Amino acid sequence: MIILDGKTASASVRESLKKSVEDIINSGGRKPHLVAILVGNDGASETYVASKVKNCEEIGFESSLIRFDTTIDEGDLLNEIEKLNNNPLIDGILVQLPLPKHLNTEKVIEFIHPDKDVDGFHPTNVGKLVSGLDTFISATPYGIMLMLEYYKIETKGKHAVVIGRSNIVGRPMSILLSGNTAYGNCTVTLCHSHTTNLKELCLQADIIVAALGKPGFLTADMVKSGAVIIDVGITRVPDTTAAKGFRIKGDVAYNEVAEKASAITPVPGGVGLMTIAGLLKNTLKAYKLTH
Ligand code: GUN
Repeated sequence: MIILDGKTASASVRESLKKSVEDIINSGGRKPHLVAILVGNDGASETYVASKVKNCEEIGFESSLIRFDTTIDEGDLLNEIEKLNNNPLIDGILVQLPLPKHLNTEKVIEFIHPDKDVDGFHPTNVGKLVSGLDTFISATPYGIMLMLEYYKIETKGKHAVVIGRSNIVGRPMSILLSGNTAYGNCTVTLCHSHTTNLKELCLQADIIVAALGKPGFLTADMVKSGAVIIDVGITRVPDTTAAKGFRIKGDVAYNEVAEKASAITPVPGGVGLMTIAGLLKNTLKAYKLTH
């Protein structure tokens, strides 16, 4: 059994990006610049955004964090995005989700210029992905593909079961794994809350991507011996023994599933780090669109 270690795989991506930035600077260019917008002060969002900004700095990108109060007017947020869209010194824009309920998430996402949409959430970019065109791929599924590539996991002809149909993870993941590409060519079953025979489907899977946000959901009795397990879950579960008062738990019952799997991602230290790697690669891609 191998542990699909996000630390090692993401370090390899970051190293190559760092080299690209050095090359850009050496040839007289400027640093790629990512802007993250954070509305409100949700603890998990704060942590993710801080990590994105820190990773940008580590590889030599410029990064800015723009914070707004939870009560921000939608028009004011859209105005800020418009300014960033028109600023040639800004390459990538991301609005951390979830947004407070009074804001229309779809409208906000559609306001980001598709060429600066490094999250790959804009319908134009999603459409390109579905059409098999080069585009920004949503960072988590992109990171998972980079992980499969790093560990040379064979996907051709395999049956992949994706649990969860979110626009951010499950749906794009199903498209990527079924694509006619080096780490695609799977037969994909996309499962969700209305799937009636989930256990049977999982037992047929060579690869399982668990992205439903239910801690410990995927148990050993649902997994075929030798399956590859990708755990996207990052739920904060209260834990009084932990310094922060919570622990991050994945969607997979790790210990028991690891005994049956041929490869598995840990939580933390797995997919989360690859998500950031995907975002950084998208930011460099955005820079290159105009340079
Ligand atoms: N919230 C959870 N995941 C993501 C992500 O990949 N991008 C953004 N912008 N918000 C998120």
